[in-house]
Amino acid sequence: MLDSAPMSSLQAALAQAAAEIDTALDHILPPAEGPEAPLLEAMRYAVIGGGKRLRGFLVLEGARQFGVSRQAALRVAAAIEMLHAYSLVHDDLPAMDDDDLRRGKPTVHKAFDEATAIIAGDALQAMAFGTLADEETHADTAVRIELVRCLAKAAGARGMCGGQMLDMLAEAAAEPLDEVQVGRLQLLKTGRLIEFAAEAGAILGKAPSAQRHALAAFGRDIGAAFQIADDLLDATASAAETGKRTGKDAEAGKATLLGLLGLDRARMQAERLVAQARDHLDSFGERADLLRDLAAYTIERKS
Ligand code: IPE
Ligand code: IPE
Ligand code: MG
Ligand code: MG
Ligand code: MG
Repeated sequence: MLDSAPMSSLQAALAQAAAEIDTALDHILPPAEGPEAPLLEAMRYAVIGGGKRLRGFLVLEGARQFGVSRQAALRVAAAIEMLHAYSLVHDDLPAMDDDDLRRGKPTVHKAFDEATAIIAGDALQAMAFGTLADEETHADTAVRIELVRCLAKAAGARGMCGGQMLDMLAEAAAEPLDEVQVGRLQLLKTGRLIEFAAEAGAILGKAPSAQRHALAAFGRDIGAAFQIADDLLDATASAAETGKRTGKDAEAGKATLLGLLGLDRARMQAERLVAQARDHLDSFGERADLLRDLAAYTIERKS
């Protein structure tokens, strides 16, 4: 360890959050036993032990601003990571992006089969909502309903699923999308879930609406920056670095800001969004420093 660079406090906090989220997921997901064991095994394979846990970390850090119990925040973090994992399992299917590598290992439909991947994604989504609705997550029914309502909005037809539809339609479209259309596509497919992750801690903590809105706006901006960075990594990084196949978006005709603006301007746009995101945290004190660091990390990351 002596010759390795010291871990930044953000890296250490991300690693700690990832370990705690894995423990929470292991506790929430039933063991892979009984006749439906292959389904449970595929769900566990998809969601435990991998990923940057950016969305889960946002929940934990948002919740920490308002003194929410770690146990409650971890259940919400686990729920969002289950929803996100479902979106990745389906995104990788042959009918969608047709990818065989995710988080450094074979995608779920490769390690199992397509039907299992579809069902495991469906069941992860159901379990995400079930986790939010469970009394163990929060004693107040109104808080639980608000979490469920907001996740449904972020994940549904005018959220992540809507964005995925636009992504698929753009691939087949005769005319390329313009900058405004690509911005909306990315807001829906990626931004809405990251926005909810940033807002969820404020919902759990019954925060004043100004602070809740500030966190949501922060999430929206880093969500937009995050997808630009994902598109940049597809064009510039290797599968060994990212744990997924790269260099595929241009060939597939994906609608990206990178495609419209080129590398330099896309990077500048992402930097602008990160600065704007941090401005939304002005009313928060030092306790939000990890969130400020996370904003920079969304575009500096190498995976
Ligand atoms: C990948 O998300 C899908 C996008 C929305 C770009 P992440 O890059 O957060 O994937 P994991 O969770 O770290 O694997
Ligand atoms: C996926 O975007 C966004 C989702 C909602 C899953 P991408 O298709 O660019 O994500 P990767 O690059 O496969 O992770
Ligand atoms: Mg995709
Ligand atoms: Mg994909
Ligand atoms: Mg991508």
